[in-house]
Amino acid sequence: SHKVIFDTDPGVDDAMALYFALAHPEIDIVGITTTFGNVTVPQATANALYLTRIAGYEIPVAEGGALPLMKAPGKPPGFIHGDDGLGNLPSRVAVSGQAEAASAAEFIVNMARQFPGEITIVAVGPFINLGLALKLEPQLPKLIKQVILMAGTVVEPGNVSPVAEANVWNDPHSADLVFTAGWNLTMVGLDVTHRVVMQSAYFAQLAQHHQYHQQHLALTTLQHAVNFYSDFHLKARPELGHACYGHDILAFVYLVAPELFQTQDGRVRVQLEGMGNGQTMMDRLGGTLSYAEPGWEARRPETRVCLQVDTAQCLALIE
Ligand code: BDR
Ligand code: CA
Repeated sequence: SHKVIFDTDPGVDDAMALYFALAHPEIDIVGITTTFGNVTVPQATANALYLTRIAGYEIPVAEGGALPLMKAPGKPPGFIHGDDGLGNLPSRVAVSGQAEAASAAEFIVNMARQFPGEITIVAVGPFINLGLALKLEPQLPKLIKQVILMAGTVVEPGNVSPVAEANVWNDPHSADLVFTAGWNLTMVGLDVTHRVVMQSAYFAQLAQHHQYHQQHLALTTLQHAVNFYSDFHLKARPELGHACYGHDILAFVYLVAPELFQTQDGRVRVQLEGMGNGQTMMDRLGGTLSYAEPGWEARRPETRVCLQVDTAQCLALIE
């Protein structure tokens, strides 16, 4: 099975991804690291503890960076995920447990040293924790088995600007460090996550299949959150219906079923300033441009970029 550190800003689709991973027999989440993004980092940590504990898991949670590496922080998008990140839950039960003493970056480095070559990182929020971990341990890319990011876009329009995807836009400097670090890296971006739309009716069907009984708190919590998220999508993208994008869940789908994706390898860099800030720029020409700018040198590390997905198989797998 895959030993995974899940780096996340829960977040409704983060919660979907977490529950997908917990239910999947081949995925073993050995730790959760939290980041700002959909919510503030203390809220992200509270949500990670809440979601795992109500589902019956005592997975360690390490709190991550509260601010982007260099960019001025933005305001969490309460209108998308709710002010609490989980669609404004009407109430919460008390749960036990607290965050680890180690920071997220320290936790990642410690685990990588303890299990060299064994850890997969699935990162689905802004990438401050990976940025900080790379600064703490420059050899990290050699210690980590693979990194899968929900990040960026190549052909599909962005979701915070015409060219930028939210996780990259929130902390472009960390993202660029991650894309140039030289690990076994896969980008699962809007090019594929916008192809996997989950209708409310599909969710109702998922609940029927679930291992928990219908009134289980984990299930009702997720349903409440997804309903709020789908209300937002209905307003923002009425053509989708009452539905939502799968985003973060697709990073885990890639982990267990990479054959459902078409990918291309190429150098990816992030635009750090101006109108295009947060854009993921991919060299799709294999380093053949002879007058390439500095930063596009042919020997730089490449990223495996997901460009297409088998939507039907993907939905079937999740179900
Ligand atoms: C990404 O941004 C967040 O709002 C989602 O949780 C996902 O990780 C999609 O652009
Ligand atoms: Ca996320």
